[in-house]
This record gives sequence, structure tokens and C-alpha cells, in this order.
Amino acid sequence: MSIASVDQVLGKLDSPIWIVTSAADGKRGGLVSTTVTSISIVSDLPRVTVGLSKQHATLPIVEEAGAFALHQIDEKHLDWVWRFGTQSSRDVDKFEGLEWEADENGCPVLTEAIATLHCRVNAFFDIGDRQICLASVTGGNIQSDAKALGMHRMLELASEKELGILSLQLKSDAGKDRVLIEQFGKSHKVS
Ligand SMILES: Cc1cc2nc3c(=O)[nH]c(=O)nc-3n(C[C@H](O)[C@H](O)[C@H](O)COP(=O)(O)O)c2cc1C
Repeated sequence: MSIASVDQVLGKLDSPIWIVTSAADGKRGGLVSTTVTSISIVSDLPRVTVGLSKQHATLPIVEEAGAFALHQIDEKHLDWVWRFGTQSSRDVDKFEGLEWEADENGCPVLTEAIATLHCRVNAFFDIGDRQICLASVTGGNIQSDAKALGMHRMLELASEKELGILSLQLKSDAGKDRVLIEQFGKSHKVS
């Protein structure tokens, strides 16, 4: 068993792409996430988890708001992957020029997304590099029956330039995460 094969094993499964958005104290934020998971089998008590990195601007907004919205997108909105996933709300207003409205939890909902979920935070679990956020899903809407964009199709559609930007960002983020994961390992005596 080689550590080099792990990425290939995980990559055999397509990860859905979500846009996570939130707002608090007059700040709006959002990021692209492939770590959203449905974590309940009780249909009237739906829950999700999402892993939010400590290095991103979205986490403190979600912590302050205690809520977030999740969006599925289709190929038409591939540009939202670059808008929400390769720049920070510290530097730009990611919502500029987009249609959105506040949901029942005060979170900005992108009206052109193909489907949305509205979530209220139950708890955060600190795993070193990120917080795993557990949330109750308070409602959902389907706006279109278009196919939801996943990681595999996103990578097929991306230009060489976009792939280059993604790869550089991944390298830089992973470098910062490595330090926090190692610190977490030491303080939790993980071997
Ligand atoms: C395909 C893809 C998946 C990502 N998944 C996550 C994720 O699950 N959690 C996370 O914190 N960041 C994830 N990111 C990184 C953030 O979306 C990205 O760094 C974003 O620009 C952070 O913005 P912010 O600083 O405004 O929060 C992902 C990025 C991409 C392109």
C-alpha cells in the first residue's frame, strides 16, 4: 500500500461541488467546498457536515452567523468555481454582479443556483486545519433539474490557465494545512 495511491483511490469517486455562503455583521462570504456530506438518515431531521478551513475568510463569518446556505451549480455556472473558490472575500466582494437574496437564516442565496439548502450550525469540531461544522438543514429548494456539477466534469471543463491557478492554490493551502495537521497530531498524540 503506497501513500501515493491515496489521491488516486479518493479521486475514483466524483465529489460534488457546493458553494457555501454566509453573512454576519455586514460581511458576506462564501467558498467552494467538496467536503459537504449528508450525515442523517432521519428524513425529517436532516443534517450535514462541511469542513471549513481556518485559513479562509468564510469560517469566521459562519461562526458568527451560526448559519450558512449550500448551493449546487451546473456547468453554466462553472465561473462561480473560480469566483468563490480561487479568491478570498478579504480581497473582493464575491457577490458583486450576482443575483442573491437573504434566506430565513440571513444567509445570501444565489438565485441562479440549481438547488439550495438552508442550514443552522449545531456544533464545530476542531480537527486542526479546519473546523468540521455540523448543521441542521432547515429547508431546501430545487430551482432547476440540470445536472449538478462535480469535481470530474469541473476538471474536464477547466482551461490550462485555470488548472494552473487551482494547482498553485492547492499547493499553497496544503502547505499551511500541513503545519496545523501536524500540530493537531502532536497535541492529540496521533501516531
Ligand atoms: C474544488 C474546490 C474544493 C474546495 N473545497 C473546500 C472545502 O471543502 N473547504 C474549504 O474550507 N475550502 C475549500 N476550497 C477552497 C476555498 O473554496 C477557496 O480557498 C476560497 O477561495 C476561500 O475563500 P474565502 O477566503 O473567501 O473563504 C475548495 C476549493 C476548490 C476549488
